[in-house]
Amino acid sequence: MADVSIRNVTKRFGKTEIIHGVSCDIREGEFIVILGPSGCGKSTLLRLIAGLEEITSGEIAIDGRVVNRLEPAQRDIAMVFQNYALYPHMTVYRNMAYGLKIRRMPAAEVDRRVRAAAGILELSELLDRKPRQLSGGQRQRVAMGRCIVREPKVFLFDEPLSNLDAKLRVQMRMEIRKLHEELKITSIFVTHDQVEAMTLGDRLVVMDNGAAAQIGTPLEVYERPANLFVAGFIGSPAMNFLQAEVAADGRRLVLPDGLDVALPGAGVPARAGRRVILGVRPEHLEPNGGRADGIRLAVDHVELLGADTLVHGRCGSMALTVRLADVQRIDKHAVIVLHAPPEKLHLFDPETKARIEK
Ligand SMILES: Nc1ncnc2c1ncn2[C@@H]1O[C@H](COP(=O)(O)OP(=O)(O)OP(=O)(O)O)[C@@H](O)[C@H]1O
Ligand SMILES: [Mg+2]
Repeated sequence: MADVSIRNVTKRFGKTEIIHGVSCDIREGEFIVILGPSGCGKSTLLRLIAGLEEITSGEIAIDGRVVNRLEPAQRDIAMVFQNYALYPHMTVYRNMAYGLKIRRMPAAEVDRRVRAAAGILELSELLDRKPRQLSGGQRQRVAMGRCIVREPKVFLFDEPLSNLDAKLRVQMRMEIRKLHEELKITSIFVTHDQVEAMTLGDRLVVMDNGAAAQIGTPLEVYERPANLFVAGFIGSPAMNFLQAEVAADGRRLVLPDGLDVALPGAGVPARAGRRVILGVRPEHLEPNGGRADGIRLAVDHVELLGADTLVHGRCGSMALTVRLADVQRIDKHAVIVLHAPPEKLHLFDPETKARIEK
């Protein structure tokens, strides 16, 4: 176990800077998820921590020791990749033992570690099988076993579940979390899947185009997204965004359809007439039950999902989606007026894209 400190790390490939000064202090035993869309630099950041790529500037320290110039093998880390490539001609046992043998570890210690890891991963009965005689999930467990036997200070995972089918992914996700609770090895897990991130991570690093857009617990990121990018990326269906204007009294927002919504507490620290972007999640809207204020939705399309109903439409010219509990029979082309609790409203600055604290 070790803490990992990433300080102002940048990475350039040729003239193109891919990672723009990322900083993050990862605590000993913490499970950190690096989350972001394809191409935002997640794998690159992980490879920098692993030492598979050299950083351009900044500093990475593992367990208090700066590792910038250390080879991957000297960093005491183990990495699980998406393509976990087991040796097909070797048994499960030999696949797990191989890395230790080439490090010339005594056979008795190798045997102890392989059997201990197999026990944890429920592979004890499968040690004599070849990879082709295993299911996808079992192979993924062998790949993790190969890392566990090394007893590393840090585990790095790069989308290790993306080759598995949906059901197996959910199961493996829970197994990885359980394993973490057992072993408490500092882990850094890369994914573009927000559900995976929310369920696995103690904290998330949400990446946007080579920078950390927000670092926080899953709930912090969901409840108080730091900017428009994080707000739109976390949550499904995605948060709605409406252009709005602060009313004369500073305590209400005027929407383009002529209706308005109340702001929580003392309102927004802004002059009247300031333009803002109002963010509201589909699950926080409900029919307004005859209140005077609200958000007017012109319905285009209704999806009955059983447990809930998704209603899609427009508020003025802007798209709006609402998630209502249970089955709701709402006519296409109906107009419904919606309410969201003031404390569930998010405000963003249209210029800086940053969250405006209320
Ligand atoms: N060796 C390299 N040389 C040049 N550019 C690279 C290199 N490796 C990665 N890149 C570029 O860096 C950017 C980030 O790539 P990276 O693989 O880190 O993204 P990612 O977030 O892991 O994406 P994905 O979810 O698709 O795996 C991409 O634009 C990619 O083309
Ligand atoms: Mg990647």
